[in-house]
Amino acid sequence: MNDQQRPNAETAQDGAGTDAPVFTPRKNGPYRRVSEELAAWMRTGWADTERRDLRPVEQAPYTAKRRAALGARFPGERLVVPAGHLKTRSNDTEYPFRAACDYVYLTGDQSDGGCLVLEPAAGGGHEAIVYLLPRSDRENGEFWLDGRGELWNGRRDSLAEAGHLLGLATHDVRALPTALKEAPAAPTRIVRGHDPVLEEVLRVLRGDDEEAEKLAAERDGELAVHLADARLIKDEWEIGQLQQAVDSTVRGFADVVAALPKAEATSERYIEGTFFLRARVEGNDVGYGTIAASGPNATTLHWQRNDGPVRAGEMLLLDAGVETTTLYTADVTRTLPISGRFTDVQHRVYDLVFAAQEAGIAEVAPGRPFRAYHEEAQRVLAEGLIEWGLLEGPVERVLDLGLQRRYSLHGTGHMLGLDVHDCAIARTECYVHGDLEPGMVLTVEPGLYFQPDDLTVPEELRGIGVRIEDDVLVTAEGNQVLSAALPRSSEDVEAWLAERLPAV
Ligand code: GLY
Ligand code: MN
Ligand code: MN
Repeated sequence: MNDQQRPNAETAQDGAGTDAPVFTPRKNGPYRRVSEELAAWMRTGWADTERRDLRPVEQAPYTAKRRAALGARFPGERLVVPAGHLKTRSNDTEYPFRAACDYVYLTGDQSDGGCLVLEPAAGGGHEAIVYLLPRSDRENGEFWLDGRGELWNGRRDSLAEAGHLLGLATHDVRALPTALKEAPAAPTRIVRGHDPVLEEVLRVLRGDDEEAEKLAAERDGELAVHLADARLIKDEWEIGQLQQAVDSTVRGFADVVAALPKAEATSERYIEGTFFLRARVEGNDVGYGTIAASGPNATTLHWQRNDGPVRAGEMLLLDAGVETTTLYTADVTRTLPISGRFTDVQHRVYDLVFAAQEAGIAEVAPGRPFRAYHEEAQRVLAEGLIEWGLLEGPVERVLDLGLQRRYSLHGTGHMLGLDVHDCAIARTECYVHGDLEPGMVLTVEPGLYFQPDDLTVPEELRGIGVRIEDDVLVTAEGNQVLSAALPRSSEDVEAWLAERLPAV
């Protein structure tokens, strides 16, 4: 600080000697008044940091293609795809922001409050504009007098910078409600659930009566479903991102094995924390809440408390995925004997689940129905359960009645991408009742879960839960297991653990 920039010491204390209505932001509670002198001084002495040498992000050519495809499906219509907003966690703290998947898919951007608009162009096609919050104004003081100011939250890209990075026209998002109100009449759709303010603007514009609202809801739903359909097939850049997510996840699983003694001394939380470290260092976050389920907790499908003990002789079911900085997630499960070797009964359950997974993966190929790998894996589980005397055959009867589900609990997999359960609202004829196509990425994840209080199974099985989950790309020839670097068979798992478990 040089002397010229220094405020007058006598007037620089908060509010001292002035009644000027100038305030510093506090999210919850009374604002704190500042002096006019400080406010004036804060306007000056800032360097120009505009970046003028920016190149588009890697995915820019891909997002452009996706926008073109979307526009072609809805010619002449205005399409509004918001990023969403920060959500309050408690009082004045917020959850980390994660932009809505469709917005990320179409822009590559992750700014809170952002919004993509595909504006129908006069000569056909669409003009794509992304609306963003620009750099904070220094002149009017918003950069430090507003709770969203950059002084508190960090520098944002300027609109010009964001435009270069994303390969898109950019406008100030604060102008968007007015822009929508003043835009030429055109049928308009919005992806709902992310921006109540914009939804309200459109509700008024599109007609405020019940009939208009019903029609608008249907039309908006079609847009969301179409985007889910489009996201079913991953392009080469997305496949690369998913492979990165899986590779980081594989490293995270190795970290966990090395940390098992610490987990035994503490709890499942040590496992969750160890994996999270890898996710934060190499990616954005975990793609979903880690399931670190030791011993009988493995029989609770959505175990996320992760506060149980980790005991030698038991197995750890770890279901975890790193989400890349671009928001693509892996979804991998391994069930590992904590002390390095499966007991006989653990081995038996593990090998049956493994056989089911092998049978399932063999069914993942272009042209095969999506259901085929589930049905094949369930058949193998049902046959094994009949052989063990837990279910009464024949197998067709068991499968028809779904009796194996008492122990297998869930479906054998789902699409994977920006969401862990990706494309969930895609049309059933494209997904659940459709055929597999090259570029789809899905999980194959059979499991067996014998509840600790299940009197229908022998005591030795009670409290055992096993799931093996891998991420599989459908290729032109068949499939590629993206998570093949993690061992799957019981023999390979034991050998892998022997190499990694710290000597005791
Ligand atoms: N981790 C969630 C799932 O496997 O579907
Ligand atoms: Mn899964
Ligand atoms: Mn999973």
